[in-house]
Order: sequence, then C-alpha cells, then structure tokens
Amino acid sequence: MKRPRLGILISGRGSNMLAFIDACARGELDADIAVVLSNKPGAGGLEKAAAAGIPTACIDHRDYASREAFDAALVGELERHDIDAVVLAGFMRILTPVFIEPFYGRLFNIHPSLLPKYPGLNTHQRALDAGDAEAGVTVHFVTPELDGGPPVLQARVPVLAGDSAETLAARVLEQEHLIYPLAIRWFLEGRLQLRGDGACLDGEPLPPTGIDFCAQPR
Ligand code: GAR
Repeated sequence: MKRPRLGILISGRGSNMLAFIDACARGELDADIAVVLSNKPGAGGLEKAAAAGIPTACIDHRDYASREAFDAALVGELERHDIDAVVLAGFMRILTPVFIEPFYGRLFNIHPSLLPKYPGLNTHQRALDAGDAEAGVTVHFVTPELDGGPPVLQARVPVLAGDSAETLAARVLEQEHLIYPLAIRWFLEGRLQLRGDGACLDGEPLPPTGIDFCAQPR
C-alpha cells in the first residue's frame, strides 16, 4: 500500500515540522513528508527540511496579486506532490476557500491557545493579560473560519508566576510537538474524520474543545 504523503506549510523556524520529521524517523508516524512549503524565502525551517532530505519550495505571497492567486499556486504545488494530508505548522497566512476546499477534511492547523479562546495573533500575551491560570495549544481541522475549525486535541500548561509571553510560549511549544504528530497519526490510521461540522474519533463525536491530551493514556 502507498505510504501516506504529507505536505507541511511553514513560515518560520519549523520546530513543529521537525517534530514531524522526527516522528516519521522514529516510526511513530507511518508517512512520508513529501514537501515542505514556505511563503517566506528566509524561513529557517526550509534549510532544516532540506538538511533532512525533504523537498522544499518557497511560494512567496508577495509575488501574487491576490490571496486567491497565492492559494491556487500552493494548491498546484501540493497536488504536484500527490499530497494526502496538509499540515499547517506555523504558517502565518490567512487561507481562502481556493486552498481550503481541495483539502477539506485533510487539512490541519496548530494554534497556540486553548481555542475557542484567542484566535488570531499574540495568544500568549493575551492569556497573560487576561490573568488566565492556564494556557495551551489546539490542533484543529481547518475550515474557512479563522482558527475556528473543529478541535481535535488540546494540551494545557499552567501559567506560572513571572511568566512572559516567551516563557509561556516555550512551555506550550513542548506540548505542540507531542500533540500535532499524534493527531495526524490518528488521521492517517483512519480513526479521525471531519463529518458535517464536527470532528469524530473512532466514530464518536469529539467534545467541542477536542480531546484533552493530558487525560490520554500514553
Ligand atoms: C507555533 O507556536 C504554532 O503554534 C504557531 O506558530 C509557531 C510556529 O513555530 N502557529 C500560529 O500562531 C498559527 N496561527 P514553529 O515554526 O517552530 O513550528
């Protein structure tokens, strides 16, 4: 049987992408990373992917007259690589239906907050400003609503006295690297689906905020 092929989209350093490379190398994820795409020529993750022998491409959004034209170029590149699932890993562009529709149900994002709290940017600072006792991260299916698709998995971390946005982000990032490959593993195993408006695992609808990772058997 053909091994599933992942396309990973990044805009920056690519630590989540590296978590996928490591999960594949360790055999925890039975998939090939077929291509890593960036919208930023200088994204540090591009070099890291190339060093791991993974094909990379940069599609610079500034070369396109509209979001739709940029999205169509991304779709074309991913289709050229015969992608089964798309992993947005710190990809900092808002996507239009031109991108979302062809990959609907096999398109995932990781967002550094406990959605539905804090969609958008500066999530850690917003959690600190609100005096939240905990912060976290959500893996979700992507739908046209920004950071609004059905959650699959969430991990929580405590907010500690003296935390800055940076220290909190680092604590959350450790969890990101655990939950994102796990969610994609469930999907590739055929256990995770987007049905109607909700996510299902093993045929059961997931809670509105997804599965609580801390409550998962390891
Ligand atoms: C991660 O924290 C990810 O959750 C966040 O960007 C960072 C990328 O880091 N994503 C978003 O904010 C999406 N709106 P990485 O490049 O090291 O994976």
